[in-house]
Amino acid sequence: MMNKEQKTNEALQRARIGIFDSGVGGLTVLRELYRQLPSESVLYFGDTARLPYGTRSQAEILHFVREILIWMMQQGVKMAIMACNTSSALALEAVRSEFPLPILGVILPGARAAVELGNRIGVIATPATAASNAYRRAILEVDATAQVWQVGCPEFVPVIEQNRIHEPYTLEVAREYLAPLLHHRIDTLVYGCTHYPHLAPVLRKILPRSVKLCDPAVHVVAAAAQELDLLGLRNTRPPLATRFAVSGCPEQFAQLSVQWLGCTPAVEKVYLPTVLHRQLPLELSE
Ligand code: DGL
Repeated sequence: MMNKEQKTNEALQRARIGIFDSGVGGLTVLRELYRQLPSESVLYFGDTARLPYGTRSQAEILHFVREILIWMMQQGVKMAIMACNTSSALALEAVRSEFPLPILGVILPGARAAVELGNRIGVIATPATAASNAYRRAILEVDATAQVWQVGCPEFVPVIEQNRIHEPYTLEVAREYLAPLLHHRIDTLVYGCTHYPHLAPVLRKILPRSVKLCDPAVHVVAAAAQELDLLGLRNTRPPLATRFAVSGCPEQFAQLSVQWLGCTPAVEKVYLPTVLHRQLPLELSE
């Protein structure tokens, strides 16, 4: 017979891993999780009512991230992965000590992987992540000899979320964003936003073959695997079906994500306190 402690630990092992992003960007992390940790169950949340995050202030991001983590804890997740560079750059440090939950961000794993690949490192990111300097700091902490150039790319998240990846306009703005990095003859390009791997076919048209692409998604999932082992939290049972939830329109998210998931997900709508407040008629929300 199992004692109470063994039962609690088994229940924890079977709990889901929470993954969140502003939208479909976190699916690049989810895909990696399916590859590296196929027996884990996942709760995916996209804060689509409030995207893009990348042009918002630190105070806003912090507020959103706290709301998401509180909700995820209520859903019983055993770990949270910020599948969002903007949140990792602007909120991870603050919330880590506020929640009794392992919380992982993408920037440090991405920085560690980038210095393994090259020394002249370009980072494409949201304006907020680029302005925070989080990648430069993290990369230089790991390798002080590296050279780092960061570019904010405000148009990328909207074109991905509007499913305009293959339009000529996207190629045109991508050329513009990459020009300064090519001028500096980078040898490595970091996807400093989880949405950007969805743009791989466009970026590959512009980048010389010699430039290596670094996707932090691969490395944050490897870090999550290590952390699960360390805490004895790996699931040993068959996984549950992934639960998808969004703060915006579930149908729109389902339609957009089918191309990356290979199937149409069932998506729930979640009412986080601030989103609900904004969506209520004025007399009810006051
Ligand atoms: N995908 C997120 C990131 O990695 C957020 C993008 C956005 O909403 O601007 O930064």
